[in-house]
Amino acid sequence: MGINYFESLNGDIRVSFKLDTKNTSYCIGIVYEEGYIGHLYYGSKIKDGDLSGLIRINEYPFGKVGFERERCSFHDFFAHEYPTHGIGDYREDCFGVETKGGNSEVLLSYDHYEIIKGKPGITGMPSSFGSDDEVTTLIIHCTDRFLNLKVDLYYSVFYDNDVITRSVKVINSSDEHLFIKKIYSTCLDMDNKDFDAITLHGSWARERHMESVPVTHNKLIVESVRGESSHQDNPFLALITPNTTEDTGEVYAMNFVYSGNFKAGVQLDQFDHIRMFMGISPEDFKWKLEPGDRFESPEVVMTYSDSGLGRMTHAFHDFYREHLIRSPYLHKKRPILINNWEATYFDFDTDKLISIAKEASKLGIEMLVMDDGWFGKRNDDSNSLGDWVVNEEKIKGGLKYLVDEVNKLGMKFGIWFEPEMISPDSDLMREHPDWAIHIKGREGIRSRNQFVLDYSRKDVRDEIYKKVSAILKSANIEYVKWDMNRQLTDLGSSALEPERMGELLHRYVLGVYELQERLTKEFPDLLLENCSGGGGRFDPGMFYYSPQIWCSDDTDAVERLSIQEGTALVYPLSTMGAHVSDCPNHAVGRTTPFETRGHVALAGTFGYELDVTRIPKEDVDMIPDQVKMYHRYNDLVREGDYYRIASYGKNHEFDCYGVVSKDKKEALYTFVQVLGRVNHKTRRIYLRGLDPEKTYRIDEDKCYTGDILMKVGYLIPDIKGDFRSILIHLEEKDG
Ligand code: DGJ
Repeated sequence: MGINYFESLNGDIRVSFKLDTKNTSYCIGIVYEEGYIGHLYYGSKIKDGDLSGLIRINEYPFGKVGFERERCSFHDFFAHEYPTHGIGDYREDCFGVETKGGNSEVLLSYDHYEIIKGKPGITGMPSSFGSDDEVTTLIIHCTDRFLNLKVDLYYSVFYDNDVITRSVKVINSSDEHLFIKKIYSTCLDMDNKDFDAITLHGSWARERHMESVPVTHNKLIVESVRGESSHQDNPFLALITPNTTEDTGEVYAMNFVYSGNFKAGVQLDQFDHIRMFMGISPEDFKWKLEPGDRFESPEVVMTYSDSGLGRMTHAFHDFYREHLIRSPYLHKKRPILINNWEATYFDFDTDKLISIAKEASKLGIEMLVMDDGWFGKRNDDSNSLGDWVVNEEKIKGGLKYLVDEVNKLGMKFGIWFEPEMISPDSDLMREHPDWAIHIKGREGIRSRNQFVLDYSRKDVRDEIYKKVSAILKSANIEYVKWDMNRQLTDLGSSALEPERMGELLHRYVLGVYELQERLTKEFPDLLLENCSGGGGRFDPGMFYYSPQIWCSDDTDAVERLSIQEGTALVYPLSTMGAHVSDCPNHAVGRTTPFETRGHVALAGTFGYELDVTRIPKEDVDMIPDQVKMYHRYNDLVREGDYYRIASYGKNHEFDCYGVVSKDKKEALYTFVQVLGRVNHKTRRIYLRGLDPEKTYRIDEDKCYTGDILMKVGYLIPDIKGDFRSILIHLEEKDG
């Protein structure tokens, strides 16, 4: 199911492949007789039939027919599946090398194909998975005969999800080494449809804001060269046709299952052809391939929607929940946690933590998370990263004592680590000065007073793992927050030979993956939350290891509307770490009602990040009801379909989104009035996602059909003031 092979009727195309999902088709043609791999179609599902005459082959300027093609013009014009460097395709190419002789050209031609049930994994890397019934994989084996290089293009078709994943494997079958200088995972060549591009841009404490810009005759690039996927650009890119809405318009979207440097972009060329691409950033990348060696690229998840952005979002959410996130917590309610970071920062000890836990446990909070500052001699951020030894001056009585006391209160215990880092002022650094990523002899560039450990080295990873796992075994620790608080500089490794230095960044990411794999294998019941100075590594790669990621260090309810909207454009609500914090908010200084902070955090994993012994009593008194609210609605939020209704980022007045259960029997909408208003007392909101035929009970006593609520709309009751919010809960009447 999902992949068909055809002998073509038209002379220009030898064979073609048709990849079908429930609502989409993707077609590839092999050009007669050079064997170039051409792109025929991606879009709404089409019937089986011969498309081979519909690819532009002999129309290019100065072109000749057949094998006599003037290749330079041909390649610059042709819709390639995987364009390579140096052959006269002057658009952004996907693959280039450096041979022993110093040349960079690669020319691929088709060799043979395989269609297999299921989906092979990618060595050492996160990748989506599925049973033989759920996914079928096409492998197009290509060769550069001159270089003796094999390049395999992988297309895995997840029929029910409307998703095709792509990745590439390269094998050096020559008897000389070469270097891969650039390797993207996917490319999509199409005619232009007046596309706009949607990206998720941001910064620290302002991650993943949705932006939309027209595609013009230039390259539009989304990238990270920071060593992690980054706060600044998320590895996501979508193209939309004009006037695309939540329900109408075409969307082509790509998302990268990778947590390091990436580059994605779109280019409108001289012939008004579009090229969209995504892969590892070529910047600071150079990989040596010895004879017989192979290199596997990370994968890109692609989806197409002819029904607007809503369908794209649902495709990504369902795909990640069904085929990428492995954690046993994926479909479980996560314990409501209280994290002491914004409560105490570094200023805490056992007594302080126990006093927070005592109060929190009475209110129904289920887990205490001890954040940064419990180890070495750390009382600020100037030291001790790498010294994963409990500071018993602060944690008096030791870690086990603290955890036992918290457990006695009926609460779980979680702990913070930053395993990828080393402080210059640490015993680890004094013992192993060469373990930091650094350039020999050059003074390293500090960021937050720290250096990054060289995770390309197995000895470094082993030692850190030993220390982290010893702590985890020393007490009943049920949750880990894995943080990463700086981006990479000084790209040098004392363990890599000079000609392999360009491998460092990718090897670093592989090292992070290896450690998280080990951790989740050895501690299968551990709830792992990733974090990177807030949401600096919020990408599908990390979801393979952790079911949730801390969204942002900005916990302000208003800023969170934009951050969470952008994040939820692609990633399920169940993955978004969201907490209620104290006011004025530590990041933006704004004061919002405690109730609104609770409503907004409900759209994520839900927890608290405040000193419950010190906040106003009226706020404390609201916590038990918020706890009830979480228990009542989390199944729906975690498993349901998410709908955007109104965006504060666009209208600057109010925000509204909803979650509807898969069986459409229940829904929860959140309305936030950011700015109070005059004119009408009520605001009409057109609900989305309901079953038009079902009758819903709303606010206990009123009943309307889904049809009416979506077309006539619902009148949000009069709310006075700024930053106010309400939840609107619907259940099927007699359902
Ligand atoms: C950055 C994280 O995002 C915060 O939540 C906190 O854990 C600090 N690091 C601790 O250093």
